[in-house]
Amino acid sequence: MDRGVLRVILLAVFLISATSDPVKKEQKVDIYSFYINSTVTSRYATTVITSRVANRLNKPQDIFFEVKIPKNTFISKFRMTINGKRYDGVVKEKPQRHSVQVVSPRQPSAGLIKSVGRTLEDIKTSVNVAPGGKVTFELTYEELLKRRLGKYELLIYAQPMQTVEDFKIYVHIHEKPGISFLEVKGDLSTNDLATAIKTTRADKDAWVTFYPTRDQQTKCKDCDKNGLKGYLLITYDVERQNPNGEMTVSNGYFVHNFAPSGLPRISKNVVFIIDRSGSMGGKKMWQTRLALLRILSDLAEDDHFGLITFDHQIELWKPELLKATEANLDDAKSFVKNIEDRGYTDINAAVLEGVKMINRHPQEGTASILILLTDGDPTTGEKYLTRIMSNVRKAIGSKFPLYCLGFGYDVSFDFLTKMSLENNGVARRIYEDYDADLQLQGFYDEVAVPLLTDIQLNYIGVSYLTQTNFTLYSNGSEIVVSGKITDNNVESISTEVIAISKGNKVTYHDAVITKDVTDVLPKDFMERLWAHLRVKQLLDKDPKEEALKLSLKYQFVTPLTSMFVTRPQNYWVTQKVGSQSIHSGAPSLTCDMLWLTPSDCEEGIPLDFPRSPVSHDDYDFHLKRPVFHASFYFAAGFNSNRFMLPADGQSKPLCFDVLLHHKLRLLEDSSREFYMNGESQTTETGFSKIAFHYKKTHNLTITTNSISYRNDKDNVDLLWGQNFALSYTDGVDLILTHNKIDVSMGDFSVSVLLHKNEGRVYLWPAVQQYPQDGSPTGIFGKYNISYEKAHEFNNPTLKIMDKNVNVRWVYLKDSTKHSTPNVHCWLVPFDDVMNRNISDFIVTQI
Ligand SMILES: *[C@@H]1O[C@H](CO)[C@@H](O)[C@H](O)[C@H]1NC(C)=O
Ligand SMILES: *[C@@H]1O[C@H](CO)[C@@H](O)[C@H](O)[C@H]1NC(C)=O
Ligand SMILES: *[C@@H]1O[C@H](CO)[C@@H](O)[C@H](O)[C@H]1NC(C)=O
Repeated sequence: MDRGVLRVILLAVFLISATSDPVKKEQKVDIYSFYINSTVTSRYATTVITSRVANRLNKPQDIFFEVKIPKNTFISKFRMTINGKRYDGVVKEKPQRHSVQVVSPRQPSAGLIKSVGRTLEDIKTSVNVAPGGKVTFELTYEELLKRRLGKYELLIYAQPMQTVEDFKIYVHIHEKPGISFLEVKGDLSTNDLATAIKTTRADKDAWVTFYPTRDQQTKCKDCDKNGLKGYLLITYDVERQNPNGEMTVSNGYFVHNFAPSGLPRISKNVVFIIDRSGSMGGKKMWQTRLALLRILSDLAEDDHFGLITFDHQIELWKPELLKATEANLDDAKSFVKNIEDRGYTDINAAVLEGVKMINRHPQEGTASILILLTDGDPTTGEKYLTRIMSNVRKAIGSKFPLYCLGFGYDVSFDFLTKMSLENNGVARRIYEDYDADLQLQGFYDEVAVPLLTDIQLNYIGVSYLTQTNFTLYSNGSEIVVSGKITDNNVESISTEVIAISKGNKVTYHDAVITKDVTDVLPKDFMERLWAHLRVKQLLDKDPKEEALKLSLKYQFVTPLTSMFVTRPQNYWVTQKVGSQSIHSGAPSLTCDMLWLTPSDCEEGIPLDFPRSPVSHDDYDFHLKRPVFHASFYFAAGFNSNRFMLPADGQSKPLCFDVLLHHKLRLLEDSSREFYMNGESQTTETGFSKIAFHYKKTHNLTITTNSISYRNDKDNVDLLWGQNFALSYTDGVDLILTHNKIDVSMGDFSVSVLLHKNEGRVYLWPAVQQYPQDGSPTGIFGKYNISYEKAHEFNNPTLKIMDKNVNVRWVYLKDSTKHSTPNVHCWLVPFDDVMNRNISDFIVTQI
């Protein structure tokens, strides 16, 4: 099965828990029509989701629009139609977080669509609708499909949350050179639903329609009485008769798709630089070894390769690149099987060593590639990111590409992206997941067969070109250049591609007439395609002014912009929120930063992996599966909460356990009159209630059901699932979004997360900011403890505050993130690390 597919299925499973929102169940809404309409031309896909919903209750209620769309798309339009009146979204520069203020009740409230990256991202908004009223939501997003391993993929996800009378997915693909193959996959194309799908093909066009009946909507995999849930993956490629590529010109803009096939493979010089620092321990290391073993098996015999592993020390498999002969591969495989995690992360030295290795090797007629895999920031050696980048840039000197693979979420992905782009490569995130080894291998496959190097594309009579120089063209990919035709009178434009194939210069020439009468595209189509590609490329560069300018001009929601929707004044709100609403007499949500719940999708999908194989014989090559040793890691017991202590400058954090049944002082700074206390659940980990008290007047109580805030003037009661922001002049800010509330009180700022995992519901605080000059107490009061390692083996011991302490290597589920990733830590006895007895932290009243 395809990697993308695996990931999406997992996401679908994950959604089951995410959607069991008690607030929504009370609603009686009828989605009577749900359409997804996608049009693809010249690989540019424009998708419109239209949802028509009626309020069937005899009282007003909030009606939600919640969809998931693929990342890499730009939202370009959002519209709500209520009682025939349209409310259109406008893309504006994204506000700084601090500009969230309580808006005056006379102003219409503003919604906001934000963009975050991941395979799919959540888009969510709501509007209050009168009894019996109707609303139509319409969301448009655009994307340029990228060719990978010989195909384009259009992903369409549908989950209307109930069965729908009139449900349609309609896809039209039009490709001028002709469509060479088309395949519809995905969980919506299986079993009972297969008959609802119809595929029609002509030479240049293909149509895929999916019109399931209400009955069919309950019958797919993962579907139930709540209707469809799943995706269609439409995969296709185009004919490539013309080796010069395909030029499409329309309304003063052009796009050039260049993907010659039939070229000989160039042999590679590839060096893998593998992070083996402590944080790579366990599953990540195991998956990395597995992927490397498979990649090594795929090398061609005339390829040369090198392996570097690093922590604070650098280890070379062999000092030189060696030919991928069977004997060398066998030797390399046993080296790979013995890679163990340990130590710190010296990225700078490791990459420079890789560059040296390639530079020492003859490169004539070959393609050199450097691949860095890391899961963390540099923690030793050169630690300044800008200096590492400049060292690497100087060393590589644009001679070959550097690809960076960032494993998991501890890694500074911005840094890896910048560094790879500066060196003509790309960065890819490897999600910490059961298929991480496949993700790694999949990335390698995309660059595994180089066909051309040093590619330069030239055009005459055009300007505002997107990127035109590329270091490498691999089989199955595609080079896309778009630009504006400056001379309107020009009858044709000529293209020239110069590149190196196996040490020989090759050129491609072509000329196309600018007025193609046979293939008329919508007026601004090509201009938008150009703008999309240009913004994508500019977003990776600094400064970002032009990217912002174009995003605003073409109304793209990008990381720099947000979409604002002015919604109808909300007279129907049934709950009172904030002091403002009381004064106005027309209650309204004060400031609703609606949208999108960045929390769940942002951080990857958690997978339980209680035991990690650690030694080199952890993969059984006969059984083709990992062999698990006896449990090396211990999860927190059923009757305790495990807390993490980020250790200053150490790669491995400390942690300790506290028994449940306690009301605890979590964080206190009496000089600032700040107190945060928590009550644990009696039988399960996590907190059932967390309370904040600040300057005697501000009191905030958070439970797993509701949030209540009191001061001397206001009473605010909220439910999880609402979106809300509140700000007071004495430094108190509360921002509630979906299942997280950000609490700022003076110099402290804490996010409290609502977790719903495997039927368990609990709260967990993540302290985001401590005062610079404070000495807080409480369970979370210690935040940069330092220690030294005394012994490592058999009886691990740490030296903490001049005392030798026996520790155990354990893991905890890090509840400061919604994905609760497993984090390894040294488990220390509470008294030893806090220097006090637990009774000093117990309170009677939270
Ligand atoms: C889908 O969108 C296209 C382009 O906007 C439009 O021509 C077509 O009628 C739409 N089809 C459906 C079924 O809504
Ligand atoms: C490139 O890919 C195509 C399609 O998969 C294949 O037919 C061709 O042999 C490949 N070329 C090389 C050099 O591997
Ligand atoms: C592209 O490469 C050519 C040849 O190396 C160089 O002269 C030109 O400046 C490069 N263009 C850009 C935009 O980097």
